[in-house]
Amino acid sequence: MSLRSEIALILEKNRGSAVSGQELADSLGVTRAAVCKAVKQLRDEGYCISAATNKGYILEENSDVLSAEGIRALLGEKYCSNIITVYKSIDSTNTEAKRSAMLGAAHGTVIAADTQTNGRGRHGHSFYSPAGTGLYLSVVLKPEKPLADCTLTTIAAADALADTIEELTDCKPEIKWVNDILVDGRKVCGILTEAISDIESGMAEAIIVGAGVNISTRDFPPEIANTAGSLKSSVTRNKLAAGIISRLLDYTAEADSKRILSDYRRRSAALGETVTFTRNGKLITALATDINDAGNLIVQTSNGTEVLKSGEISIRRTI
Ligand code: BTN
Repeated sequence: MSLRSEIALILEKNRGSAVSGQELADSLGVTRAAVCKAVKQLRDEGYCISAATNKGYILEENSDVLSAEGIRALLGEKYCSNIITVYKSIDSTNTEAKRSAMLGAAHGTVIAADTQTNGRGRHGHSFYSPAGTGLYLSVVLKPEKPLADCTLTTIAAADALADTIEELTDCKPEIKWVNDILVDGRKVCGILTEAISDIESGMAEAIIVGAGVNISTRDFPPEIANTAGSLKSSVTRNKLAAGIISRLLDYTAEADSKRILSDYRRRSAALGETVTFTRNGKLITALATDINDAGNLIVQTSNGTEVLKSGEISIRRTI
């Protein structure tokens, strides 16, 4: 690890408290001048590091540079050794995670970025990914089971995102089937789950779960301005990332699908509401009544009960 990274990790672990420059130099076996140089480099990268006379360097609580060291410092023992790569800018963290999975990336590998130039959403949509105001990350899962047994991954991911947002912000997240996270009726987070599987064996070689969270984004492009929203929170991206990663890895490994599904149903924005969806170009209106154990949405239409396995719904809230 470079000196810059080592110092970043120590400052992240001691966020808000002073770390003596001399102690840094002694513990890392380098000169004070080398420590000064590395701290300057971190400041140039945007870290808010103040220097308190006779006390040392303080990484300010609100310093919000997305970094592998910052995420790692908050991940806890279980996941702090996972491979984490953070890019300033990348086409898409999901695309990069797929590329690394094909090259043998380990279970739990994380790819994150400050901005994406080609952020991808479901159904071929793009995902607006401006710098500095959102979190864009992907996690590589290696479930070692048939792809057919991984159907609840998306549900578990939505629960992980919603629980983390609820824990770290003042928001009350809801889940819009299948996996959009809504706050006050606006979409604050989208999840894109992709798989690499072996056709012959049917095994899931890797599943990539990508999440994009609008944390403080304000100005959205006109096409999503009426539906997109943000958390309007001062939570740092590293903290949000660490919470999402550890819950995602815990929930997707959880054998108890009952808990995952009941958490998902509890947070559902659709259940009990009138929803619309299109089929063969026709708009259908229905009442969403249940989510079955496979994560499918059960709706009552004028033609009877239907089971929606995938797709997009709109919710018509009754006021
Ligand atoms: C959707 O709302 O349709 C899903 C959006 C998923 C966006 C995230 S951002 C991180 C990861 N990289 C991508 O290109 N997409 C996902």
